[in-house]
Amino acid sequence: MTLQEQFREIFGADAEEIYSAAGRVNLIGEHVDYCGGQVLPAALTLKCRVAVRRNGTDFMRVAATDIPARAEIDLRATENYKDLKWGNYQAGVADEMRKAGYKLVGCDILYDCTVPFGSGLSSSAAIEVATAYALAKLGGNQIDKKELAVLSQKAENNYCGVNCGIMDQFAAANGKEKHAVLLDCATLEAEYIPLDLKDCVLVLSNCNKPHNLVESKYNERRGEVDKALALLRKRIPDIDCLAEIKPYQLEENRSVLTPLIYRRARHVVGECDRVRNSVEALRSGDLELFGRLLNESHRSLKEDYEVTGKELDALAEAAQSSPECLGSRMTGAGFGGCTVSLVRKSGVERFMEKVGKEYRAKIGYDATFYVAEVADGIIDEGAAR
Ligand code: GLA
Repeated sequence: MTLQEQFREIFGADAEEIYSAAGRVNLIGEHVDYCGGQVLPAALTLKCRVAVRRNGTDFMRVAATDIPARAEIDLRATENYKDLKWGNYQAGVADEMRKAGYKLVGCDILYDCTVPFGSGLSSSAAIEVATAYALAKLGGNQIDKKELAVLSQKAENNYCGVNCGIMDQFAAANGKEKHAVLLDCATLEAEYIPLDLKDCVLVLSNCNKPHNLVESKYNERRGEVDKALALLRKRIPDIDCLAEIKPYQLEENRSVLTPLIYRRARHVVGECDRVRNSVEALRSGDLELFGRLLNESHRSLKEDYEVTGKELDALAEAAQSSPECLGSRMTGAGFGGCTVSLVRKSGVERFMEKVGKEYRAKIGYDATFYVAEVADGIIDEGAAR
């Protein structure tokens, strides 16, 4: 059934338009967006597509193609839906847009999301950005892609209780085919970096760990780096964010930090360096170096930031010991989700077989593999047919 046919079946009328927002893979720059660092995500062909129509009421009615969930949100009282099990991202976006003065009109929206839930590839950001775009368009508002990302992030922070940074929503909106997005999270300035991987591809390996406690552990890390910044400011008062600290400054002032907080800060400072070096490596076509930086990033996320877990470690270790793999690391928040590996095209099948086998032997269930295809972020697909 086409999306239009499913829409008709659920809402009893035709959809007008179809829009889509992308899932993302972060190549490098992990857990630094909320420290004012630079990140390097790319948007994926895994997407959240929405079919939409104005319904002439004051309600936003939302439904999904893959699960029977439905919700109805009163656009005059958007603050009332925080407890929805499904539909709270959409309600949160509507709430932020209403508070920011956007004109909202009643609508029906059908979500068709191919970004696997809980995969660390940002299905939630894709849903938020697609919703923000749909609501803006349906209400006849002008909105730019940066603003789409900012409103969507606010929805997740204020409405859904996840203290996330801006990276995922920014990539979901601003991604570009064949490019990675080098985003400075302190200024929201972005630059597109051509992603020429020569004879290599990016393989995403989903550890399929059941999703749990990610949000609380994520918020805990944010608290720890806030603490690091506050303590370091006593010595270096003019810093605005942790990403501004140079490795030598961190070492010089190590004594103001507890050992744990020091390790958290060391990850952030080191990762910011690795992003700069990765961009240079990609620009000069040095994929071997880029691969080594991916490996170092994983090690730092495992040992200093402690956000990997045995599943992601098993995937990264199996990948890193594959002859056809140049480098591998966890991507996204961690604690579950995916790794991203740079793999020679000629060895992709062998890679998946070896990593899959070793993962199953160690963890007891299967990982899932996808070859990543890099795409545009928000797309206006045009009239629904
Ligand atoms: C999640 C958050 C992002 C970012 C990453 C870690 O995906 O939503 O803002 O912090 O984790 O890099």
